[in-house]
Amino acid sequence: MSRSLPAYITTPIYYVNDRPHIGHAYTTTLCDVWARAMRLDGRDVFFLTGTDEHGLKVEKSAKERGITPQALADENSAEFRKVMGLFGLTNDDFIRTTEPRHESQVKQFVEKLLASGDIYLGEFVGWYDEGQEEYITDTRAKELDYKSAISGKPLVRATEKNYYFRLSAYQARLEAFFAANPRFVRPAGRFNEVLGRVREGLQDVPVTRTNFTWGIGMPNAPEHVIYVWIDALFNYATALGLADGSSALAKDRARFWPPEYHVIGKEILWFHAVIWPALLMACDIAMPKCVYAHSFWISNGQKMSKSLGNFIDLPTIESYFAKYGLDAWRWYMATQGPIGTQDADFSPKHFHEVYTANLVNTFANCASRTSSMIEKYFAGAMPTADTSSMPTSNASGAPIWSAFTAHSASKTLQHYADFELAEAADTALSIVRSVDLLINETAPFKLAKDPANLPRVAQILAACAEGVRVAAVLLTPIMPTKCAEVLAAYGSPIEASDGMLAAARWGGLKAGTPIAKCAPFMRVDAPTT
Ligand code: MSP
Repeated sequence: MSRSLPAYITTPIYYVNDRPHIGHAYTTTLCDVWARAMRLDGRDVFFLTGTDEHGLKVEKSAKERGITPQALADENSAEFRKVMGLFGLTNDDFIRTTEPRHESQVKQFVEKLLASGDIYLGEFVGWYDEGQEEYITDTRAKELDYKSAISGKPLVRATEKNYYFRLSAYQARLEAFFAANPRFVRPAGRFNEVLGRVREGLQDVPVTRTNFTWGIGMPNAPEHVIYVWIDALFNYATALGLADGSSALAKDRARFWPPEYHVIGKEILWFHAVIWPALLMACDIAMPKCVYAHSFWISNGQKMSKSLGNFIDLPTIESYFAKYGLDAWRWYMATQGPIGTQDADFSPKHFHEVYTANLVNTFANCASRTSSMIEKYFAGAMPTADTSSMPTSNASGAPIWSAFTAHSASKTLQHYADFELAEAADTALSIVRSVDLLINETAPFKLAKDPANLPRVAQILAACAEGVRVAAVLLTPIMPTKCAEVLAAYGSPIEASDGMLAAARWGGLKAGTPIAKCAPFMRVDAPTT
């Protein structure tokens, strides 16, 4: 176990001009699963999320509502924070870009870049996506037929006297870095998109605006406001105090840099894969290890959008919590989401099928059958039996339980570490499937009718109970509450001092340990739509 090795993971910081919905919940839940898994492995984890509060969109929304941008930001940031609480998230900090600790450090970073000449004053004419507050290169604008890739609205030709970041100067260094780090952007398909665009040539990017005031003023030229994207990207560094290495914050947190994962949605990959690394190079800060860009949840084959009103919003999500429970929601997010390059359709029917197949019929059924039989035949105590060299099934060549679970446990942990959360879940669940197979093959409930068979029944049920326990340990990062319930019923809560692999080692459940009946997931009615 790699005790105390720092591990930093971040979500995007979310715009406060929107209400929390499935997209925000998704990214943040994935990060939470990873953070919990790494903590369970003994890593020194720092998990960051927060809100992005400056910019034209917030200024406009606040104006429409007749309140100050700060009041709007306070209200919606609080809403995000509250909502994140509902998802059982274990973030170590929640950063807001309007906080003094962030603003002062962004200014420090920008001052350094002005001094080094990486930021300079110049004039820019270019194609601008107003919805995204983003300039688009001429080539890209042409490809897009001069329309926004996101909203479809026409791009506008804009001229600005602005401060620029000398992105073009980092072309060669970025290309060399990308070549040396083929897993810097994942999935691989997304990296190829980025590399293709980089090869077209990098242009300097404006880092200030003069068309709004709601933002961080440029040091010595406050009529120029730092562009919201530049302000926002720095959150990953300001949360750790990196602008001033001698600050108390840096002393406490700088060890977490560089991040293991910046987890984001595909639409903001360019900022994270190209502009952010170049800014870091200019500030002489080490590169993040990986930018993981997942795809999008869609609804009945269509993009979720405000205008279509088909977002899976908070009230909808809460109806899933009420019917299936938070852990079932987390299971669905971790195993069925758009983690690859394909978008994933959110469907109530599919949710129900996955819940029933994986959680009711597999996980809960095994936990429940095993605990019931132990109650019936062994007075609710872990039977005494030697399972050390017992094979997982009657099939020839079947591995022995201890080797099978040890292998599955280290594979599960590796999948978590590699951000392959569905694979981690499936590997852990395969232990439960083996328990199921063992029960079906050996039918302990039939054997138990003859008292002479009790030693064999004891061995089978001891193996089943141990299998359920090991699986519950490994699934804890995804379903913390339900797994804790199973582990408590099986008399073996995870001790704080255990690492995941130690806790998952075969033989942890000692003979005589009381085992209570438990059924962590119940069958529920299928949805009508
Ligand atoms: N504020 C910027 C990010 C700055 S990071 C330095 C921003 N905010 S956002 O509120 O629009 O959030 C975007 C993120 O929300 C996406 O990158 C993704 O993580 C998540 N999602 C939003 N809609 C989504 C789906 N439909 N599906 C999955 N996740 C998506 O962009």
